[in-house]
Amino acid sequence: MEMARIGVTGLAVMGRNLARNLARHGHSVALHNRTSARTKALVEEFGGEGTFVPADTPEAFVAALERPRRLVIMVKAGGPTDAVIDEFAPLLEPGDMIVDGGNANFVDTRRREAALRERGIHFVGTGISGGEEGALHGPSIMPGGSAESYAALGPLLEDIAAEVDGTPCCTHVGPDGAGHFVKMVHNGIEYADMQLIAESYDLLRHAAGLAPAEIAEVFRTWNTGRLESYLIEITAEVLAHTDAATGRPFVDVVLDQAEQKGTGRWTVQTALDLGVPVSGIAEAVFARSVSGHAGLREAAQNLPGPSRGLVAGSGLADAVEKALYASKIVAYAQGFHQIQAGSAEYGWDIDLGAMAAIWRGGCIIRARFLDRIRAAYQADPETPTLLTDAHFTEAVGDAQDAWREVVGTAARLGIPVPGFSTALAYYDSLRADRLPAALTQAQRDYFGAHTYRRVDREGSFHTLWGGDRTEVTA
Ligand code: 6PG
Repeated sequence: MEMARIGVTGLAVMGRNLARNLARHGHSVALHNRTSARTKALVEEFGGEGTFVPADTPEAFVAALERPRRLVIMVKAGGPTDAVIDEFAPLLEPGDMIVDGGNANFVDTRRREAALRERGIHFVGTGISGGEEGALHGPSIMPGGSAESYAALGPLLEDIAAEVDGTPCCTHVGPDGAGHFVKMVHNGIEYADMQLIAESYDLLRHAAGLAPAEIAEVFRTWNTGRLESYLIEITAEVLAHTDAATGRPFVDVVLDQAEQKGTGRWTVQTALDLGVPVSGIAEAVFARSVSGHAGLREAAQNLPGPSRGLVAGSGLADAVEKALYASKIVAYAQGFHQIQAGSAEYGWDIDLGAMAAIWRGGCIIRARFLDRIRAAYQADPETPTLLTDAHFTEAVGDAQDAWREVVGTAARLGIPVPGFSTALAYYDSLRADRLPAALTQAQRDYFGAHTYRRVDREGSFHTLWGGDRTEVTA
């Protein structure tokens, strides 16, 4: 029987496209699916693209793999992933590797990696971004797991990944759950980026009074500058699209309730545990949540708002571009802070510049601006925040007047801009010489004797609020 270099089980669209991408790059691919009709269909339709070795049973699939075996599972995250691991792990031998290319929670990945490591099997939790098209033509790939597994697997993944300036958008992220953690934060940033774009659209529509087709043109122009990115590009496409059934702008016939599968929520939950302020991502998750509360929104329809008036069109578009760029820098700074914190917490030693580099192509947040982030971390790998990198400091400094205008205009007109305003609040909080946290801490001491530290002396103190208000050392 012909041996395959790698195998893919789970041949729904992502798995199928990944298998085809591997085959197109000259790697023989064993194929398996719970129902073999899918395996057959793939071979019938795309067999000419490379060498496929179809297998009807898990045993035949495993037997078809060269050793060490590289077995990629592309199934639904959660229970189905555990079920497939339980099915295949007993058939494997020490040194073999199971690669999970789904959007798994990194905590699950850590658990699975530890359990399989005990049996000598490498478990590689891998983020794969770029959707169906990316899987076929070149995704951004974020593999975790052991360095040893990357040595055997990395070259294949680098072959099929997107490429920017001759560099593959794939690198070893770090041990155990590091790959899925980084993919999770990627998705959180994706949420924030999408929210900021949505707010920009809303302002251009309702404050500047532009029609969707005109806004599409604004986005097209932005896509030739520093905001150039996949998300800006597709925004222009969506806004220019007309609904065939009604002749109305497509965006007007889509129900205004944004759904989510969970990775954005995980990013925020994890950030809360790590104590990292990712307010841009959190607002984006909450904005989707608010949109989905149809009953609540219905009940609030008649709440009073300001009397709306349009503001001048052309000037606003330029100001919104600046607000968008500045807010985007903040969202990415927060996301990278979270990766830095996760890396420190779990001992992953993640190279932040390398993460920016592998997000430059293939993935949903691919953008020209990621090259700037890569350069910032190359210049100073220990930089506490991207905002203090000279390029970003200058960009935000130049944008800030317009940014403040935009947030103020939105507030006056009653247009919700949670992404823009939280980004600005974060920026101003970081800059502040003194924060009102001093008052918060004093209140905590007042009602709960939680103590405080002083600006002028070491130690912890408590004021006897209920007594003579002298200060005691805590
Ligand atoms: C990607 C995407 C992909 C998917 C998200 C969407 O990187 O290719 O992020 O993973 O489109 O799961 O997430 P929501 O369904 O939660 O919006």
